[in-house]
Amino acid sequence: MSQDNRAAPVRTKCGRFFADLLFVVVFLAAGRDLLGQRGTTEPALRIPTNVAWTKETLVIISRGDAFRGLLLARRCNHCHGEEGFSAVAMIPNIAGIDRLSFWKQMEDFKSGKRVSGVMQEIASRSSARDSADLAVYYSMLPTGSDSQDQRSFPQAMRDRSGASMAIELILFGDGRRGIPPCQACHGPAGSVKGAPSLATQNADYLLEQLNHFAKGDRANDINVRMRSIARQLTDQEKTALAEYYGAGLGPDVSAW
Ligand code: HEC
Ligand code: HEC
Repeated sequence: MSQDNRAAPVRTKCGRFFADLLFVVVFLAAGRDLLGQRGTTEPALRIPTNVAWTKETLVIISRGDAFRGLLLARRCNHCHGEEGFSAVAMIPNIAGIDRLSFWKQMEDFKSGKRVSGVMQEIASRSSARDSADLAVYYSMLPTGSDSQDQRSFPQAMRDRSGASMAIELILFGDGRRGIPPCQACHGPAGSVKGAPSLATQNADYLLEQLNHFAKGDRANDINVRMRSIARQLTDQEKTALAEYYGAGLGPDVSAW
């Protein structure tokens, strides 16, 4: 009580002025934030994925049980193919897929970090353990071909003239635009955790993903790695790369 009385004379006109000024500054700052948010489609602090390559994550994936994965895969075969090679070029092949990449995609579909009408619903029913079991099963399926092969992969390049453009980007990238070689992350020259091999993937699916990354419709890549690369590629380059990988050619130095 006595303290209030003592403070009262200090609350002068000058004090009121500063209080009003503070209010105006806060009001303006808040308004600017609101306007800023309205102007962008993506919140500034969007986290690309909930998956981090911690020891715990790697342990969950390494404990995958291939036999249980085989049983669970019955729910996937009619789209991704009996042998993990899909008959529809827009649906990805998942035979021989990198385990970490597979598991991360399932978690990203589940959390909505990667958008897909079909896969989000399916992944929401797959526990972290189910996805680890499926990952190890699919990663063990062979990708090599033989005379009994019924797969729709590889698909011949529609336009072979794009081959040298694709090979150059895969092997060397483009230093002038800051594009690293694809093979530095997607193999075989190097690898980063969660980067799948593209050498056995369908062309139409690859092209669609490159376009999604370029537009930011797919934004689940850690450190914006793929968005920043795809944004810089021309339409011709994206098509050439997708068709080259889709033809099962991979980074083949002898074709250079
Ligand atoms: C109705 C068809 C359908 C079924 C059934 C289906 N998928 Fe998919 N899957 C798709 C499509 C389409 C995509 C590509 C999504 C996109 O456009 O991003 C996909 C993508 C994926 C990917 C990402 C691959 C990559 O290279 O990034 C994984 C992993 C996957 N599916 C696993 C599964 C598993 C495991 C099951 C079974 C539990 C399953 N899918 C069932 C259609 C299907
Ligand atoms: C710096 C490393 C890096 C380089 C270089 C790189 N990528 Fe990637 N790429 C990744 C990673 C990591 C992913 C997985 C993103 C995720 O977590 O979903 C990916 C994913 C992709 C996918 C989606 C695959 C799928 O199955 O859905 C495509 C397509 C792709 N990259 C194409 C390319 C091409 C073409 C090049 C060369 C022009 C390239 N990338 C260079 C790291 C890289």
